[in-house]
Amino acid sequence: MLAAYARDIAMPSSAKTLKNPIRLSLYVQHGAMAHFADHCAVCHADNDSGQTMFGKGMYQKPPDLRQSRTQNRTDGEIFSIIENGIRMSGMPAFGGADTADDSWKLVNFIRHLPQLTPAEETQIESLSPKSPEELQEEKDEEQFLNGGDSSAKTATRRNGKGSLTMRRVLVLMVALGIFVGVAYAHNGIQHVMGTVTSITDSSITVKASDGSTLTVLLTGDTKYFSGTETITVKEIKIGDRVVIHATRTGDHLTAAEVKIGAMRMKGMPGE
Ligand code: HEC
Repeated sequence: MLAAYARDIAMPSSAKTLKNPIRLSLYVQHGAMAHFADHCAVCHADNDSGQTMFGKGMYQKPPDLRQSRTQNRTDGEIFSIIENGIRMSGMPAFGGADTADDSWKLVNFIRHLPQLTPAEETQIESLSPKSPEELQEEKDEEQFLNGGDSSAKTATRRNGKGSLTMRRVLVLMVALGIFVGVAYAHNGIQHVMGTVTSITDSSITVKASDGSTLTVLLTGDTKYFSGTETITVKEIKIGDRVVIHATRTGDHLTAAEVKIGAMRMKGMPGE
């Protein structure tokens, strides 16, 4: 096959043994995550668009980068692919005068893809541009946290499959190899709003304005915020209004983020 042949000759044998000079740190992952969302997800994203763009011509489909085909390559090989592209395929070259660091970070990020956490999934969501719908939702949540009326809202809203934001998230999730297929059916980010009725180190139970209660699991990866400031789980009290962004696995909701109002921390009593 032509593309396969081109893939072999495009790779200098010295590439295999190149050493990655960048340490795999959280910081590096985050920078690379944004970079990936910008430059790579468009192709290494959802398999349908890959099909449309490349499946019909001589091009290879953009592969799922968390599979062994890619993961078994050396760091140097992946670096070389990013810098030089793959000739006679849809994979462009991203190399330039000053790109080596970015490319090595992308190598680190690709190494990390198979172990992405739910919290990181949420971070990826926040990296994609916001739709007007999502901005409105943020406003509603902010209002609720600061004591506003929530009677018009349902307790748990799941972003619809049709919403632009959710589609973007799903595209990214597929790109990053998160439960492809399952993602569409079950893996929406759920937004839970309510008043805390109990909280432990491993779960939080909230009561919504319609009287229903819901328990969400807390993990070591769960992040806690008061407004935009990071807090600890200990600072969340019974009676606090909270907004929880959670992912669903089977019957369980697991919190990626729990937010309380910024006002409460400044001394306003809870409800
Ligand atoms: C225009 C579409 C497109 C974009 C944008 C793109 N790729 Fe690719 N990529 C492809 C295609 C198509 C292939 C498969 C080529 C082949 O196998 O012949 C590929 C292959 C790869 C491979 C090799 C996979 C393997 O193991 O065989 C890596 C690694 C890769 N891309 C990383 C990236 C990164 C990182 C970015 C962003 C900086 C990116 N790609 C952007 C289309 C794209």
